[in-house]
Amino acid sequence: MPDPYFDVIVIGAGAAGLMCAMTAGQRGRRVLLLDHADQAGKKILISGGGRCNFTNHKTPPERFLSQNPHFAKSALSRYTPQDFIALVEKHCIAYHEKTLGQLFCDGSAREIVAMLLRECESAEVDIRLGHSVTAVRKSDHFTVETNHGAYRGGALVLATGGPSIPKMGATGFAYEIARQFGLAVTEIRPALVPLTFAGKLLEFCKPLAGVAVEATVACGARSFRESLLFTHRGLSGPAILQISSYWRLGDDLAIDLSPALDAAHYLKDQKRTRARAEVKTVLSQVLPSRLADAFAQVHAPDGQIANVSDARLDAFAEMLHGWTVEPSGDEGFAKAEVTAGGVATDGLSSKTMEAKAVPGLYVIGEAVDVTGWLGGYNFQWAWSSGWAAGQAV
Ligand code: FDA
Repeated sequence: MPDPYFDVIVIGAGAAGLMCAMTAGQRGRRVLLLDHADQAGKKILISGGGRCNFTNHKTPPERFLSQNPHFAKSALSRYTPQDFIALVEKHCIAYHEKTLGQLFCDGSAREIVAMLLRECESAEVDIRLGHSVTAVRKSDHFTVETNHGAYRGGALVLATGGPSIPKMGATGFAYEIARQFGLAVTEIRPALVPLTFAGKLLEFCKPLAGVAVEATVACGARSFRESLLFTHRGLSGPAILQISSYWRLGDDLAIDLSPALDAAHYLKDQKRTRARAEVKTVLSQVLPSRLADAFAQVHAPDGQIANVSDARLDAFAEMLHGWTVEPSGDEGFAKAEVTAGGVATDGLSSKTMEAKAVPGLYVIGEAVDVTGWLGGYNFQWAWSSGWAAGQAV
């Protein structure tokens, strides 16, 4: 008996694969969607603290990292946040804007997965979970061998994401198959990942684990002003996750622990009005008190603020606005929200995501060398690239 034949085989039932499969199915294509996991959309389910930050009102290309910063433009402009919001509204899923244009479900990320599965069902997509792909071959069609037998497809879409969070079944499978077909893969690394410290800096951070503060974190010319969180291993929180995508081993970070305040002005004002207070006490009015204590202990002059010269207060204020630290590493793929790098965009059409040299082979979502900022950008890239391929297969 010949292997079952489909117009399109999509490997990976995550965000990008589900979107691609439903879009192709709606066009009347016979679609098979395979995944080795026992559940579709596992990363969607855990995203956004269980509420799925499914897009962002604004997705300008500069909020995506790639060796070719122009590559993402076409797909992002053809399937926009507004298109995905319309889908969410069609399914009566309540949502809200949290901050910085980030849209979250009011209820649960499960609603987004259920919505995509409903769309796939009505587009008659054949979804088969628990299917591990063991080999892929191409002749005049693609053959995908799995632990449940082989399938043939006219087109093959790689939507297996990147290797971040391997314990959820994430793999570098897309890179393997892309290389098999002669496509280049850029350097990959963990992104949107907590940073770690060693030595004195680690000793400083550890006891502060759990303390959060609004900060501006800069690496070279790039900076983010968001919340920063001290951890047992170093620093995390949105500001750190964002900068981690730009940070390389050996780079310093400059951290402004009090970006909303002119610290020199504040300290000198306190010197006049609260002369007998200690620096750490006046600092605890503007920083979380555990952080104020720890920071003052290392960097502030002892004693009453009245006895500290203005020059020393200026120097301390400068330290507060420009705390310079050198991370010793990051928490790796085990903790990275995404993988930066991936299948090189040079080899793909930005309009359809098809491999230029391998007709019928498509790569979408996180597997591609396009990585968004924190804030719904990575899902929007998955929807947009999945839709673009779904229109073309
Ligand atoms: P995705 O990883 O979603 O899907 C890949 C699929 O392929 C999986 O179902 C996997 O099982 C399957 N697969 C892998 N290897 C396979 C193989 N060898 N054979 C068969 N199947 C295979 N982004 C965002 O915009 N907003 C947010 O709120 C969050 N929050 C968030 C939280 C956490 C904890 C993480 C880890 C990540 C996020 N993200 C996010 C990032 C977002 O989840 C991610 O960018 C998208 O899920 C990528 O979608 P893809 O479909 O490309 O891969």
